Amino acid sequence: MQMAKHIKIFDTTLRDGEQSPGCSMNLQEKIELAKQLERLRVDVIEAGFAIASPGDFVSVKTVAQNVKNCRIASLARALPEDIDRAYEAVKYAEAPRIHTFIATSDIHMKYKLKASKEEVLQRAVEMVKYAKKYCGDVEFSAEDASRSEIEFLYQIFEAVIKVGATVINIPDTVGYTTPDEFFKLIHNIKNNVPNIDKAEISVHCHNDLGLGVANTLAAAKAGATQLECTINGIGERAGNAALEEIVMALNTRKDEYGMFTNIETTELYPSSRLVSKLTGMKIQHNKAIVGDNAFAHESGIHQHGMLAHQSTYEIMTPESVGLTNNKLVLGKHSGRHAFEERLISLGYHLSKEELNKAFQEFKVLADKKKVIYDKDIEALVLDKAVMTKE
Ligand code: KIV
Ligand code: ZN
Repeated sequence: MQMAKHIKIFDTTLRDGEQSPGCSMNLQEKIELAKQLERLRVDVIEAGFAIASPGDFVSVKTVAQNVKNCRIASLARALPEDIDRAYEAVKYAEAPRIHTFIATSDIHMKYKLKASKEEVLQRAVEMVKYAKKYCGDVEFSAEDASRSEIEFLYQIFEAVIKVGATVINIPDTVGYTTPDEFFKLIHNIKNNVPNIDKAEISVHCHNDLGLGVANTLAAAKAGATQLECTINGIGERAGNAALEEIVMALNTRKDEYGMFTNIETTELYPSSRLVSKLTGMKIQHNKAIVGDNAFAHESGIHQHGMLAHQSTYEIMTPESVGLTNNKLVLGKHSGRHAFEERLISLGYHLSKEELNKAFQEFKVLADKKKVIYDKDIEALVLDKAVMTKE
């Protein structure tokens, strides 16, 4: 049997996540989140983009000073002043990283950088060299890699590895790729870039087509060992690949992937709630893993199955992601069995006839109300039931 492979989780909620409209956090909030990410046991925290503003600089620095058990990275464009500032902020960390990037796609080079391939290649090499003077750990990202010419990617990755890049990151910056295509891209990079084994292969997927997590998982199968993501998938436009979904997919399908992360999965739910609270960004009810309905069962058939055995309709337990129990939501699709169980858990014991009558009344009420709360049930049965609870 093959040994499971360790996959590193690089969290960029504080950097790419914070770039999503309306999601900015103040210093206190950033420190609170960084501490939670430490409890979650992510491998790397990208704490910000130090040159972006004085506030960003202070928050990267303060995270670097206060978080001891994760590597701390700051983003920097491939410019000396960005790299100086990034190092000034991360140097306080036990394990600092400078993350520098430049775009490699024809579209970005032509319209944004107004630079030739040769100039981009030269800047990438010089800036990785420059960052290495400060810091042993330097990540290089080829922005818009998924729309870049593959031979150019081979060339630039070979060159930056030669001058000491420890991580090469392959972003799907605009969320354009698909799982099959991204698998091939990572596979080809792994097999065609000389000395690729001297660097870690990382991916960073955006979610414009709703494929961020699928693309990230395909990349892990192709050999990526660092996955970049954010809590609740927050980030530019449609967001980044969601950390909790990647981790629980690898966890739930261990046999298929043969991989593990260091993530303390019971901290996923608390982390998600914290990010939602701090950013004001609501979590959709049916969001995988952390949405309000992710472990809620309403229909009678499902509720009956769940009461017989949890594995009937759940592929992971709510406890494993930090929820204390699942939710059987009572509504018009609920069956008698779930209704009776709820009554018992509320402390009410009804005779068969009383139960029949109450269940009929419950169905009438459920046609009128979307969700039936415990207080509604109590109102229905108060005159009928024998209380068994104090
Ligand atoms: O999406 C992207 O390309 C990025 C890079 C800076 C890594 O966020
Ligand atoms: Zn990004």
